[in-house]
Amino acid sequence: MDWNRTVLVTGGSGFIGSHLVCSLVQRHPDWRIINLDDLDYCCSPKSLESVQDRANYTFIRGDVCNSRLVNHIFNTENIDVIFHLAAKTHVESSFETPSSFQRVNIEGTRVVLAAAHQARHQPQRLIYVSTDEVYGASLDEVFDESSPVRPSNPYSATKAAAEYLVRSYWDKYKFPIIITRSNNIYGPRQFTEKVIPRFLTLLQMNKKCTIQGTLPKSRHFLFVDDVINAFLLVLEKGAVGEIYNVGTGCEIPIMQLARQLVKMVKNVPDSEVNDWLEFVPDRPRVDLRYPIKCEKLQYLGWRAQMPWAEGIRQTVNWYQDNPNFWSDTSEDRGPIRNELEKATNE
Ligand SMILES: NC(=O)c1ccc[n+]([C@@H]2O[C@H](COP(=O)([O-])OP(=O)(O)OC[C@H]3O[C@@H](n4cnc5c(N)ncnc54)[C@H](O)[C@@H]3O)[C@@H](O)[C@H]2O)c1
Repeated sequence: MDWNRTVLVTGGSGFIGSHLVCSLVQRHPDWRIINLDDLDYCCSPKSLESVQDRANYTFIRGDVCNSRLVNHIFNTENIDVIFHLAAKTHVESSFETPSSFQRVNIEGTRVVLAAAHQARHQPQRLIYVSTDEVYGASLDEVFDESSPVRPSNPYSATKAAAEYLVRSYWDKYKFPIIITRSNNIYGPRQFTEKVIPRFLTLLQMNKKCTIQGTLPKSRHFLFVDDVINAFLLVLEKGAVGEIYNVGTGCEIPIMQLARQLVKMVKNVPDSEVNDWLEFVPDRPRVDLRYPIKCEKLQYLGWRAQMPWAEGIRQTVNWYQDNPNFWSDTSEDRGPIRNELEKATNE
């Protein structure tokens, strides 16, 4: 079959990547979607079950840092569009193993850029999926795309470094890149190391939600379908060489999040909510909040569609309906999974 477009998604088996792959495969039967992923501990093959037999979907298990493999893909598959998501993503782990974050997030991006740029069939777009964390923390400043980049942890530092590499291909070669910087994404199938699934998993195990530190930390939460719509809009209407914030006004203090999830999962009265909370030490310096403006993206026509109340309801329902999604596997599930497992065994 002659495909109208061939799209390479790196990291397509992860949380956001699997939603993006499913959406592309289902919405565009005339596009071929190739997923390159090395199936790190945060992935489950079940995330892509709904598309794995579709004619327009191909999975390649491999490392984005493997330049022979990545060059081969670009030289044989006529890639038109790249969504580059493959990354190490867990901030806490980035303090413990920063070199693995440097390898995948920076070197992996360099390999993908170089391969895309030298390909005989020139790609039309490379969309690099970055994060609001590159701005560093804010107390009252709201960041737009021209705000200074001041990453404050090894994860965000590697994402920022990769952004500079991506931008250098635009500056030097006018290679058609676009960068997105999004808020915290949540929804079904997110691995249990991130805050919402971590709280839900602990509560499902009859354990308390562990709140790190006592500072008033909050995060802006965007439902996964909304970020996918932003990526697809940026692909069609975004200007090359530009950066687009993908943000929401939905700022939730972490303490309020924990209390809300306790009420939803445990169904307890207000007077008993605190019984399900436990304070644990935090890093000495943690970013309290990351507010961003996304007028550039709104100008293209994007608005977050999913209200928080509905998005969190769908997410909680999914974790309740799929309690074994992350646990019925024997693979190493990384530091947080081990922590959760230890908690169950206590
Ligand atoms: N989750 C968020 O809130 C959020 C917010 C903003 C930006 N992002 C960015 O979006 C992207 C996806 O995030 P996510 O939350 O889905 O993360 P995730 O950890 O669920 O997925 C990362 C994916 O990358 C793959 N991967 C890791 N190393 C690889 C390698 N060497 N070769 C090939 N594949 C590899 C993993 O197997 C996994 O499928 C990341 O680039 C992240 O920085 C995430």
